[in-house]
Amino acid sequence: MKKFRAITILFACLVIAAVLVFQAGEASGSKAKAKTVTFNKDIAPIFNKNCATCHRPGEAAPFSTLTYKDVRPWAKSIREQVSKRTMPPWHADPHVGQWANDTRLSQKDIDAVVAWVDQGALEGNPKDLPPAPKFTEGWAIGQPDVVLDMGKEYTLKPGTPDEIQYFTVDTNFKEDKYVQFVEARPGNRKIVHHIIAFVQAPAKADSNVKQLTPEERRKMREAAAKDNIFYQDGFLTKVKADAPVFDDACHLPSGGNGSKRDGSGEGGGEGGGGSMLLCGYAPGKNQEIWPAGTVKKIPAGSKLIFQVHYSTFLNPAGELKDRSSVGMIFAKNTPDRELKTHGIGNHYFKIPAGAENHKATACWTAKEDIHLITFMPHLHMRGKSMEFKAFYPDGRSEVICNVPNYDFNWQLVYYAKKPIAIPKGTRIQVTTVWDNSSKNKFNPGPNKDVRWGDPTYEEMTIGWIDYTLDKQSFKTTAMK
Ligand code: HEC
Repeated sequence: MKKFRAITILFACLVIAAVLVFQAGEASGSKAKAKTVTFNKDIAPIFNKNCATCHRPGEAAPFSTLTYKDVRPWAKSIREQVSKRTMPPWHADPHVGQWANDTRLSQKDIDAVVAWVDQGALEGNPKDLPPAPKFTEGWAIGQPDVVLDMGKEYTLKPGTPDEIQYFTVDTNFKEDKYVQFVEARPGNRKIVHHIIAFVQAPAKADSNVKQLTPEERRKMREAAAKDNIFYQDGFLTKVKADAPVFDDACHLPSGGNGSKRDGSGEGGGEGGGGSMLLCGYAPGKNQEIWPAGTVKKIPAGSKLIFQVHYSTFLNPAGELKDRSSVGMIFAKNTPDRELKTHGIGNHYFKIPAGAENHKATACWTAKEDIHLITFMPHLHMRGKSMEFKAFYPDGRSEVICNVPNYDFNWQLVYYAKKPIAIPKGTRIQVTTVWDNSSKNKFNPGPNKDVRWGDPTYEEMTIGWIDYTLDKQSFKTTAMK
């Protein structure tokens, strides 16, 4: 990595030297002219590689980068977004860790885009245009082997600000399945704020784990809410205003997870009932691209539970129907390891009205040797930053992922380039900062104290992690 940096610096020096020589040439009146930058030759390859996954018909971005005609009207805005590095979206501190899905443009590409716009955003020679990249319509992961939807269409009542609904469907899988890629797809982006899909494995014949029906699940949540810090507000779960406050939850035995809300007390309180988180969708979320051989297992006979957060936050005109779905691609070869997901959360915080830098922590200790694969900070509209720090059993500590400029509109997942070894007994501390002042332009209510709650106008802090267990290898154990 040091070597890589040194080479990068050396390269940067050479580029600077070349630029200086070039400018000197200009200054001394040579005929050297800035190279003409065209869309077809120079810019299309950059956009195809770095923008088109989102900027193509049917995806979330407001315009397509696939053709000159579509791009041209946006040239000025593109110059601004690219030079400020707000596009492509990426909010992790580049000095902490290395990320397999780092989408930041190289300085060379940024310079090319800026030069292209400054020269009048020319189209260029059609012969230079590279072939359009291939995408599967409707899916970022490629053509799914199986698509499961919610089982029915759901219609949100007009004027409903926020609600969370659960839908349970049979997978009808007759054998265990190993999922290599998975994507949750909103049926209606205008009202779906998020989807989390859980796998509910069938109860084993020899175990007394009970399979919950959706109705039992609902009752359990209600009962749990009665004697703990949560309460149900219609279809939403919130923390009671007078619940005990612990901004620093790391000294609590639970590390901050106050939840029996779904009867599980595990998994950061989301899903629960022994279910496993399969995948999620939220605005601006990128795709699950787990390392080859690292899969999620869906046991034969499992059910899929959709937790869908609906919101009329975007003021959708009229169209309030949704039927969201989950697409999966199964591993082609014998997978190696199963991916586990955990949410490191604090349910006990309280953010005072107007506080500009309110901090809270949550902790989780690894019970065995693991490798961390991904990080995904989840906060609501007052979220400012999230940091993941590991305290190793030998006394060392280090920041392993840092997102200093959290943006609610971009629920990004960060994939470690090399899985991070976490020995048993390591404590992972998640530190969150919120801005509940009026300086935060996204703040839906700076005049009130804020506690944990489902709706986006309340707050959350969950540091989602995906990891594998070192002791597990399907090749030698669980595969058959
Ligand atoms: C992960 C998905 C994603 C990627 C990758 C991405 N964009 Fe975007 N982009 C979006 C979305 C979604 C919006 C709309 C954001 C909003 O409405 O706030 C957007 C907005 C923009 C805008 C602002 C449009 C306006 O309203 O003025 C520009 C310009 C832009 N993108 C350019 C690019 C360029 C150029 C690239 C590649 C170098 C890129 N984006 C990569 C998703 C993406």
